Amino acid sequence: MNLQITPPQRRADGRLVLITGATSGIGAAYARVLAARGHDLWLTGRRMSVLEPQADEMRERHGIHVTTQAVELGDEEELVALEAAVREVPDLYGLINNAGYSDDGIFHLMTPAQHRRLMRVHMDATVQLAHAALPALEQQRGLLINVASLASWIPTAGSPLYGPTKGFVRLFTETLAMAYHDTEIRFQVLCPGFVVTDFHSRIGLDPETFYKNHGLTRAFPASWVVERSLRDLEKGRIVSSPGWHYKLLGLLIRHMPRRLLYRVLQLGMNRRYNIKGQVEKQQESR
Ligand SMILES: NC(=O)c1ccc[n+]([C@@H]2O[C@H](COP(=O)([O-])OP(=O)(O)OC[C@H]3O[C@@H](n4cnc5c(N)ncnc54)[C@H](OP(=O)(O)O)[C@@H]3O)[C@@H](O)[C@H]2O)c1
Repeated sequence: MNLQITPPQRRADGRLVLITGATSGIGAAYARVLAARGHDLWLTGRRMSVLEPQADEMRERHGIHVTTQAVELGDEEELVALEAAVREVPDLYGLINNAGYSDDGIFHLMTPAQHRRLMRVHMDATVQLAHAALPALEQQRGLLINVASLASWIPTAGSPLYGPTKGFVRLFTETLAMAYHDTEIRFQVLCPGFVVTDFHSRIGLDPETFYKNHGLTRAFPASWVVERSLRDLEKGRIVSSPGWHYKLLGLLIRHMPRRLLYRVLQLGMNRRYNIKGQVEKQQESR
């Protein structure tokens, strides 16, 4: 199959921003804020029955062009098709590489295809779309935001490629910001802590009990996180970790002795992921 994606419509003066994973959570929040600021939008997702009505509402409310595109970023062919379409938009103003998910499990019990897919969504998509967009972003003096996570500093044993791939996204963005420092492109890597989105319910956690509204690991609304991200972008902050809670936690994670960090993480992991127990369970079920 040779998938083709048609580049989006935009108004002559509508500065177009591409947001991946705009169906829900952080991506949908970026879309709402940028729509209210008058940007034209190019939104990708997979649940089109969720994305389309949101796009209709933004068109109606703000009089902007919104193009929606179904893309499975874990599929190489679909990613390459989106990348090719991005190259055909010489006046793209912004790119927000936001789509992402957590794949929980025990590394060797998961399939290589599962691992490959997560790496494609988090790393390949971020790199390939940035590569395709950068000439336009430079010409438009635009913006590039990549969504990583506070977990980009943590060995995430329960989701073995989540932390490592987000670590890649963070360092890649910081690297681009340095490499293009003499351009007028604004770069940011967003590294939030817990945010109330569909992310955790997708891995079977109950939002009612999982999200806390107090303490160092409290969860923030996606709209609040996005407002802070865009404020940090205006201030020229390359790494954005909204909320003093997560700034402090990030500082602790980066500076506490690694052995202490491993100990703390292991205590948490032992409760949730018992590797020996999981292997035995899988062997019994064969
Ligand atoms: N929520 C948090 O606590 C948190 C914290 C730190 C970082 N993050 C990061 O924030 C980003 C957005 O997540 P979220 O919290 O807003 O979760 P979310 O509500 O589940 O949104 C994830 C978005 O990514 C899309 N997506 C997921 N897998 C995809 C794939 N294989 N191909 C194409 N699109 C895909 C989803 O599309 P469909 O819905 O259409 O399937 C959805 O639009 C992710 O990169 C996540 O790692 C989240």
